Amino acid sequence: MPRKKITDWSNFQDETRAIRAGHVRGPENEHSEAIFATSSFIFEDAEMAAAKFEPDSKGNVYSRFTNPTVRTFQDRLASLDGGEACIATASGMSAILLACMGLLKAGDHVICSRSVFGSISIFFSKIMSRFGIDTDFVSPLDLEGWQQAIKPNTRMFFAETPSNPLQELIDIQELSQLAHRNNSVLVVDNGFCTPVLQKPLSLGADVVVYTATKYIDGQGRCVGGAVVGDQKRVGDEMFSIMRTVGPAMSPFNAWVFLKGLETLSLRMNAISVRALELAGWLEARAEVEKVFHTGLDSHPQRELAKKQQKAGGGIVSFRIKGNKEQTWNFIDHTQLMSLSANLGDAKTIITHPATTTHGRLTQQERDESGITDNLIRIAVGLEDLIDLKADLEKGFASLK
Ligand SMILES: Cc1ncc(COP(=O)(O)O)c(C=O)c1O
Repeated sequence: MPRKKITDWSNFQDETRAIRAGHVRGPENEHSEAIFATSSFIFEDAEMAAAKFEPDSKGNVYSRFTNPTVRTFQDRLASLDGGEACIATASGMSAILLACMGLLKAGDHVICSRSVFGSISIFFSKIMSRFGIDTDFVSPLDLEGWQQAIKPNTRMFFAETPSNPLQELIDIQELSQLAHRNNSVLVVDNGFCTPVLQKPLSLGADVVVYTATKYIDGQGRCVGGAVVGDQKRVGDEMFSIMRTVGPAMSPFNAWVFLKGLETLSLRMNAISVRALELAGWLEARAEVEKVFHTGLDSHPQRELAKKQQKAGGGIVSFRIKGNKEQTWNFIDHTQLMSLSANLGDAKTIITHPATTTHGRLTQQERDESGITDNLIRIAVGLEDLIDLKADLEKGFASLK
């Protein structure tokens, strides 16, 4: 007797859906998801070709529009996030571009958290402004500031939570209510928590964007991104922009990200435990001025973190007691941790945000965002903490 196939994954737990949702097995009965490395798809006859080009037609035509491997990734991520639709993109930045193209038009106004990834603030302040979309930046911590920045033409609130690298949180529920009362949508960048640790849609956000390059991949191999949300805005409107404009994810990258999703929960939990222990260890050091991690009792928004995140994630930032030269010297004396600007890898990464990821901001913008010269970011990976602490000891020794 043929076994019945599961088609609805909504009653399964997250860890099960991360491994199985979205996979429609092909005629070869493959167990692992297949990579459909094809740019186009063939039609049985001319009539079928014409039908596939009808606006509402389903089925594959060309991989800028749809591809079965990419679709499996999209369906799996949408399922984990509790969204109706997902569009995979070539990078995290193109996910943000797509979300803005779908949700905004010339003349609209955006309010963006001041504590966002450097390229995101440049995207809004220098690129979107050329297309008639103005942005005001406000502190993520000050709801009053968001309220005061609202204009009659405000249509989007954009925030990253927790922020990079200082781990500031926005209250997704409160901010979404403010956005909705003012004819706006809330877009949340959930790249640091992933749906394993935080589900912004269930807290009221309208659209979630991801850099899949980070934790979803998990081993630093591919660049990619995704937008998740409802069928109308994401599944229909953004999809129709996507198929024309074309920042599509490649099938190979989608396959790598699918494999990443299978271990995402294990990795996010293990990384969070390591990061919190490392944060506590750093906090006890006399050479350290301040440590930033949402799992620490000293985090000013600890209660909010407990409310909206399952754990603190893998980013630990800290300020040493020293100037820029001493901070660079500290970093240069570590050996095991990779000196790189990426994060979300099994390999722990050490970064100097002020001169790399946030180096394109003006001094004033860095000052306002708290990206000081003595700040170091560690994106904790999966190595043994004994070795990570020993590596940091080499940095501390350089301060003597
Ligand atoms: C929070 C956040 N969002 C978006 C991006 C952009 O993602 P990508 O590099 O995949 O374009 C990054 C990259 O570091 C990021 O840290």
